[in-house]
Amino acid sequence: MITTQRDFLMLQKPRGTRDFLPDEMEARRSVEGRMREVARLWGYREVCTPEFEDLDLFTMRSGEGIIGEMYVFEDKGGRRLALRPEITAAVIRMYVNEAKVAPKPIRWCYFADCFRYERPQKGRYRQFWQFGVELIGADTACADAEVIMLAADILDATGVTYELNVGHLALMKNLLKDLQPHEQRRVMTHLDKKDFKGLLGTLEGMGKPGLNNSLISLVECHDLDEAFEIAGKIPEQERIWQTIGLLDTSGVKYSLNFGIARGLDYYTGIVFEGFAQNLGAENQILGGGSYRLAQLFGGDDTASCGFAIGFDRVMVSLGEAHYQKDTVVGVVCTNDGRKRAFEVARILRKAGIRSEMDLLERGLGAQITHASKSADYVVIIGQREAESGNVTLKNLETGEQKTVDLATAIAEVRAHGAR
Ligand code: HAM
Repeated sequence: MITTQRDFLMLQKPRGTRDFLPDEMEARRSVEGRMREVARLWGYREVCTPEFEDLDLFTMRSGEGIIGEMYVFEDKGGRRLALRPEITAAVIRMYVNEAKVAPKPIRWCYFADCFRYERPQKGRYRQFWQFGVELIGADTACADAEVIMLAADILDATGVTYELNVGHLALMKNLLKDLQPHEQRRVMTHLDKKDFKGLLGTLEGMGKPGLNNSLISLVECHDLDEAFEIAGKIPEQERIWQTIGLLDTSGVKYSLNFGIARGLDYYTGIVFEGFAQNLGAENQILGGGSYRLAQLFGGDDTASCGFAIGFDRVMVSLGEAHYQKDTVVGVVCTNDGRKRAFEVARILRKAGIRSEMDLLERGLGAQITHASKSADYVVIIGQREAESGNVTLKNLETGEQKTVDLATAIAEVRAHGAR
């Protein structure tokens, strides 16, 4: 986009995208690192798929209707492509292409950007990042429970305050079994949004107003026995009991919610969603569940379960004070000390301390003033220090200054940390 500002043209970033300055990138990388570490400890190994895929990959399951929500384009070879709106379909396509004979279960994770043509607002962007996992080839209660436990562990590691809702589609589907698939979808959309007024209208239109009370009772019920009573007998009952039993012993905090329908229509069993407390309308920070997509993409019918966390929403929810900043040392010097200053900066970096040389060749006072804007310490190298091999270390928080050998300076900076 181009806007006129004063008398020149200034290019702007595309609507719904963001620039990230270094402070924000450091915060993002710090939280991303914590998520990666938890996934690593659970044995989920990172994969990467293309940013764009054949459009068919996304329309095969969801229909052409999804095109309105995507960035779709034709390349020079006339292929219809789409920027990925999510990663699950691509990961399962990759599994079918590359890894279908690999020993099961397969544990994969990803951290990648997605693109959706949505109306941008706080927490809703056209380019956003997901941290997700897919567990492929384990069709058990343990598998469902592991994925939910992992979701909770990763969210805990970020420090975000959230609520986790867990449900299972089989209950709602049992109540809706006499409806056509497209009718079921309409009803589930109302339930997902807790739009009970719209629900009644839709059910009346379908000649099924009698379903209204049981559906609302199911959505509002938080007890498993009661939920099975409302929904009627289903074959999945034992497995759901097992999954919930495992979650209860693991200490994961969650609420049962059988109104979860999930927007993406590939889920088949367990479904779960996470909500942050301080985000307003766009407060869903996690969505996942079990699904079967491999067969659709030319593989064998394979059970999978996974989730994706809306990384940008987690960052918005966390706000600013949630990561340990680097300790920064500004290395300042006189002309006589410059060569030694470069050497000192190199030794500090080797010791793992972030060190920034002054490059503008100004006087010591100006260099120290500049360093104090971002550094925690300055190391001053004048002629005296260059000759003796010592450094003058100034703590920019307390103003305390002393001349010490380099090893002592390194120990002090390490012990003190960032301001
Ligand atoms: P999803 O619920 O569509 O699920 O997206 C997962 C998360 O991505 C959401 O809960 C939300 O936090 C974040 N998100 C979605 N749209 C936006 C947006 N426009 N701006 C910012 N954040 C957004 C999936 O994508 C499934 N693939 C999850 C999954 C993995 N299911 C099984 N495996």
